Amino acid sequence: MERFNASISVDQRLCLQDIRGSQAHAAMLARQGVIPAADAEAIIKGLEQVLSEIQAGEMAWTDSLEDIHTHVEARLKELIGEPAGRLHTGRSRNDQVATDLRLWVMQAGRELDTALRDYQRSLVGLAQDHAETIMPGYTHLQRAQPVLLAHHLLAYVEMAWRDRARLADCLGRAAVLPLGAAALAGTSFDLDPASVAQDLGFQGVFANSLDAVSDRDFALEFLFVLSLIQVHLSRLAEELVLWSSQEFGFITLSDAFATGSSIMPQKKNPDAAELVRGKSGRVVGGLVGLLVVLKALPLAYNKDLQEDKEPVFDAFDTVLDSLLVMAPMLASLHVDQARMGRAVEEGFLNATELADFLAARGVPFRQAHEVAGQAVRLAEERACALQDLSDEDYAALCQGLEVEPGPELKQALEPRRAVDRRTSPGGTARPNVKKALKEARKRLWPEG
Ligand code: ARG
Repeated sequence: MERFNASISVDQRLCLQDIRGSQAHAAMLARQGVIPAADAEAIIKGLEQVLSEIQAGEMAWTDSLEDIHTHVEARLKELIGEPAGRLHTGRSRNDQVATDLRLWVMQAGRELDTALRDYQRSLVGLAQDHAETIMPGYTHLQRAQPVLLAHHLLAYVEMAWRDRARLADCLGRAAVLPLGAAALAGTSFDLDPASVAQDLGFQGVFANSLDAVSDRDFALEFLFVLSLIQVHLSRLAEELVLWSSQEFGFITLSDAFATGSSIMPQKKNPDAAELVRGKSGRVVGGLVGLLVVLKALPLAYNKDLQEDKEPVFDAFDTVLDSLLVMAPMLASLHVDQARMGRAVEEGFLNATELADFLAARGVPFRQAHEVAGQAVRLAEERACALQDLSDEDYAALCQGLEVEPGPELKQALEPRRAVDRRTSPGGTARPNVKKALKEARKRLWPEG
C-alpha cells in the first residue's frame, strides 16, 4: 500500500512550487494575524533551507512520507521545530497540490512559448533562404500545383502562432489560485487569498471551494495544447521523412539528426523526425488518459487526481524536446532545389494554368478543364511536358473554341509564372510570400 499510495517519485518535481506556495501562505497567515509573525519568519527561512537541500540533492525521499507536501513539512519540522506545525493552518493538501501544479504549468507554459518562438524563427530562417525556391504543392500527396517552398514552410509558422495563442489562453485559466479552499469547504480562518495570488503571480482567485480543489481543466487544456503542438510537429516531421527519402530526394538532413543502419551501410535514417512523429502517441495518450481520470469523478477531491501529474510532466518534456530538436534540424537541412524544380516540371502541375488561360479568354471553365485534360493525355503519349506540345497540337486542341493559343500560352505554362499569378490574399505569388516573410520577421524579432 505504501508504494502504491506514494507519489513522491513523480511530484518531487513540484518542490519549488510547493515551497513558494507555502512561503506565501505563511506570510499571509502572519499578515492576517492568524499565526505569530516570528513563526512565519521561521517557516519562511526554514523552507528556504529545505529548498536548498533538495536542490543540492540532499533530501532523502521515502515512500513512507508519500508526497512532496509531507516531505517538505517533515523536513521543516526537523529544522525549525514547533513553529512548523502552524504552516498548515487553514490549508489542506487538496488546495495545496492544485496550487503547486498550476504554478508549475504557468512556468512550463512560459518555457514552451519560448521554444515555440525559436522553432518559428527556424522555419522563417529556412523560408527566407528559399523565398524563390519552387516545389510541387500536393493534394492527396499527388503533385498538384507549383508553390514556393517558403510558402509551404510559412504554413507551419501559422500553426505555431495558433499554438501560442491557445497556450496563452489556457495559461490565463491556469493562473487562478485555489489556495484557501482548504479540504473542500473553505475554512474558518480569516484568510486573504487575493494577496497570496498577487505574491505568487496568479491573475485571480477561485470562486467556489469545491471546484477549486477538484478542477483539473487547466491540466487537460495544457495537455490539449501540447497534443496539438506535437500533432503539428508530426506533420512536418512526416514531410521531412518523405522529402529525405530517395523517392522524393528534396532534402538532405544534417548527419547530426540522422543515423546509419547497423546492417545496411548505405542507409541514412531520419531518426529525429521519426521520433518527433512517433512521440505524438504518448502526448495524445496523456491527454486521453487524464480525460478518462476526470470522467465521472464526483466532487470534490479524490485520490484519482494524483494521476494528473505524470502525463502533464511527460507530455511537456516530450514536446519541449521535440521543439528543441526540430529547430536546429530545420536550420541545418539542405534543400536540393534542382530536384524540387524537376519534380515541378514533371507532373503536369501547370495543367490548371492551361485551363485558367483558356477560361480567362472566355472559354467556360468546365470546357477549358476538358481541353487541358486532353492536352495532358496527349503530352503523356508523347512523353513530354505541356509546354513542349507544338503550336499545331494546341491549335488542334483548341479547335472550335474562340481562342488563338499564341506564344503567351507557352509563357503562361512556366511554373514561375504559375506561382506569381497566385496573387489572391494568402496565395503563393512571390510578392505575397515576401510580404508574409517580412511580417513574420517583424513579429518574431521585434527588436529588429
Ligand atoms: N499527493 C496528492 C495528490 O497528488 C496530494 C493531495 C493528497 N490529498 C489527500 N486528501 N490525500 O493528489
